[in-house]
Amino acid sequence: MTFKKTQKREHWASKFGFVLAATGSAVGLGNMWRFPYKAGEFGGGAFVLVYLAAVIAMGIPVLIAEFIIGRSTQKNPVGAFRALRNNKFWPLVGWLGVLTGFVILSYYCVVGGWILKYIFSSLTSAFETGTAGGRFESFLASPSEMVLWHGIFMGFTIFIVRGGISSGIEKWNKILMPAFIILLLILMVNSLFSPGAEKGINFLLRPDFSKLTREGVLEALGSAFFSLSLGMGAMLTYGSYLDKDTNISVSALEIAFLDTFCAIIAGLMIFPIVFTYNVDPRIGPGMLFITLPEVFASMPAGQLIGITFFVLVAFAAITSAISLLEVVVSFVMDEFGWTRKKADYLLGFVIFLAGIPSALSFNIWSGFTAWGGKNIFDILDSLASNFMLPIGGFFIAIFAGWILTHGEKEAEIKKVENAFHFYDIWHILIRYVTPVALLIVLLYTTGALSFFK
Ligand code: TRP
Repeated sequence: MTFKKTQKREHWASKFGFVLAATGSAVGLGNMWRFPYKAGEFGGGAFVLVYLAAVIAMGIPVLIAEFIIGRSTQKNPVGAFRALRNNKFWPLVGWLGVLTGFVILSYYCVVGGWILKYIFSSLTSAFETGTAGGRFESFLASPSEMVLWHGIFMGFTIFIVRGGISSGIEKWNKILMPAFIILLLILMVNSLFSPGAEKGINFLLRPDFSKLTREGVLEALGSAFFSLSLGMGAMLTYGSYLDKDTNISVSALEIAFLDTFCAIIAGLMIFPIVFTYNVDPRIGPGMLFITLPEVFASMPAGQLIGITFFVLVAFAAITSAISLLEVVVSFVMDEFGWTRKKADYLLGFVIFLAGIPSALSFNIWSGFTAWGGKNIFDILDSLASNFMLPIGGFFIAIFAGWILTHGEKEAEIKKVENAFHFYDIWHILIRYVTPVALLIVLLYTTGALSFFK
């Protein structure tokens, strides 16, 4: 706690607004794009079960830890660790978080741009069967279009963050998230009336453990973590705008529930139509941009449904992108005393520039590959989601589990919140279960365990 605050810290206007904003951060491309295709790849229902276990054993505990660290210090990730333990090491975890936010946002906006482009082109002409693959490829092949749409997406993100916490981020989440959920439910109901509904539901919800590989388990752990926006201080930053009356544990449960709910509903929307039109559910990353447009092309009212679908995905992506930008913006505002306007415009622009190599990695720079053929976009994505986030999450768990005192933690999770021994269960998870699970993910991805394969 400092007494000489230069700028008064902003706060959420309501608890509801905070929960929506954090849910908006969590629900994003991870739910709409990554979760369904990974579930498709790794055996449907069995993958979903492991994903649920990961949300409970590592997701919710780290979410609570980030809220505790953020709210108790009312600071950005670097300032927060420094305020709690000012030594050489812990503030570095905050630095890693800010850097990770920078990296993820740079390529996240590129995919955000693809979605805007899809909305735009489906407004002007309907999807036609047999053309989606070619269309996507010719779009990827155009450097100027890729950079243009990437920039437009970043422009929207900058615009919302410019408004600040309650009158920018919270206000827009209160509009976009309910609209998102309503559109999602409408499309799901529509899918559930299609002939492939039963197959789709069975595929997603009936566990077939024979299809679940070790890689599938690790993907489920990683996806759960990414989907909840954990490991880099995004939730910590949102928590730093909380006041003392909000119940952290209840909010964390609500956010985790809504995020998981949206991932499963997205699956229930996608798989029935995938089976109705007989496309292979194990299609991979092209599901959103190739398979589904194909399906929309052959559906009655496909143009309308297709546009609705991409608008929905755009809402999900933008509410996540603003949380990533807010981490970086709050960091320079707190640490260097910049105004929100300067921080937002300048950093937004710099991150836009940093994203250009990712946009070009699908065309003129596609020859630049490393790590077994990965282009720049894929390298940044694996670097961030397979290494930087689990490392950040691991240290956040160690910090909350082993470094903070009970007194410091109990000041945030109040006695009233300890119904059903909530605090004690959380404490066991964050001390033992979460760090071990994250360490396994890390060791596996760094290849240290390849020896056991
Ligand atoms: N959770 C978002 C998604 O599912 C992505 C995201 C936003 C994120 N902020 C983050 C991921 C912070 C990790 C850390 O698409």
